Amino acid sequence: MHLADRFVPAWLHDFHPRGSNDGDRARLQRLAKGLADVINLNSGDPDLTAAPVAVEAAVEALRAGKTHYAHGGLAELRAAIARKLAADNRIIVDPERQIIITNGSAEAAAALFHTILEPGDEVLTTDPYYSGHVWAVTAAHGVPVLIPTRGEDLWEPDPDEVAKRITPRTKAFVFANPANPTGAVYRRETLQALVDLAQRANILMVPDELFERYVYDGRAHVSIGSLPGAADHVVTINGFSKSYCMTGWRLGWIAAPKWLAEPLADVRYALSMVAGTPTQWGAIAALSDAARPYYDEVYRAYGERRAFFYDTLTRLGLPQHPAPGAFVGMVDIRPTGRTGAAVSEVFLRDARVFLWPATVFGACGEGYLRVGLIKPLDTLKDMMRRIEPLIPALLAGAPSRR
Ligand SMILES: Cc1ncc(COP(=O)(O)O)c(C=O)c1O
Repeated sequence: MHLADRFVPAWLHDFHPRGSNDGDRARLQRLAKGLADVINLNSGDPDLTAAPVAVEAAVEALRAGKTHYAHGGLAELRAAIARKLAADNRIIVDPERQIIITNGSAEAAAALFHTILEPGDEVLTTDPYYSGHVWAVTAAHGVPVLIPTRGEDLWEPDPDEVAKRITPRTKAFVFANPANPTGAVYRRETLQALVDLAQRANILMVPDELFERYVYDGRAHVSIGSLPGAADHVVTINGFSKSYCMTGWRLGWIAAPKWLAEPLADVRYALSMVAGTPTQWGAIAALSDAARPYYDEVYRAYGERRAFFYDTLTRLGLPQHPAPGAFVGMVDIRPTGRTGAAVSEVFLRDARVFLWPATVFGACGEGYLRVGLIKPLDTLKDMMRRIEPLIPALLAGAPSRR
């Protein structure tokens, strides 16, 4: 018997969070590898970095020897997060009991699903989905169940569609708000309907609010955890990677209902005990008033790129109606009559511009590419110069879907 047959369980054969060798994703990646000077807008890792005050605070912690375990997470950070949740999100929690600090929000999702799932339990999420949610559910032996969403609805799910897919095995609905990959921003009435549904069906709502600061077009971020009826049925996941441009710092948190906080903290402790201490000191500074002007400027810069990007595509003949959120979003390529995979390949081969077909995040992404506006404005301008000559042929050439 091969060692792998003995030690690698069967469910892992289809589990490839780091990429597999087949499918559009792999094919396009191979093509990109063979090309020079590719502008790659696939990632969701902001190019801008953490506020200088956060960097200083982390370096100062290292220098001062604040490098020991911070069991349970630094009390100062939990208090700062509780203050932020009250002020920005209108969520009231006890920082001693209900805030759990994790190594990135990826660990928050892993800890949560390992806590609440029995093998075979179902977790709802959107199609298109954020891949990390699907991985976290699958790795905890749960079964992801997809809720279709549409560009016409700015990718916001219909609560009735969520309700329809609830079975006796359903434990939760996990969704990013604002959403990666789509940029969806959930309206208050949708969120209230989801809270009501959670109470009626006795399931949990699990918002991932990592992109909360990036909401445009006059819309505002509403936290589902702030709504009436949410206290026992909402587990909020958040972190520093996106809104604070701290991806590599690996810091996230969970705001948990009181009844869940203790078992969840136990599982979280079993996974990796604690998060890094110097980074937590940096995160406290990132949440401080001193960092605000810096992050306001980050918000403005990503808004400027977003406006340039979608306005230019519209001007070039590909009309866009993007959802209001995030520095990630969708590019409507339906007027070309081609599949996302086909247009992605044309952009890559003929313009050396790499955007995923949104189908890599679920079948409902057909007709769209997914973009992360994680390059400076000048690079985006260069990108538009490269794809502009291709667009007339794309629009004229191929009415049939491949
Ligand atoms: C919606 C969403 N949630 C969570 C994550 C992972 O965040 P973290 O770096 O906190 O693990 C990402 C990263 O792309 C994301 O897009």
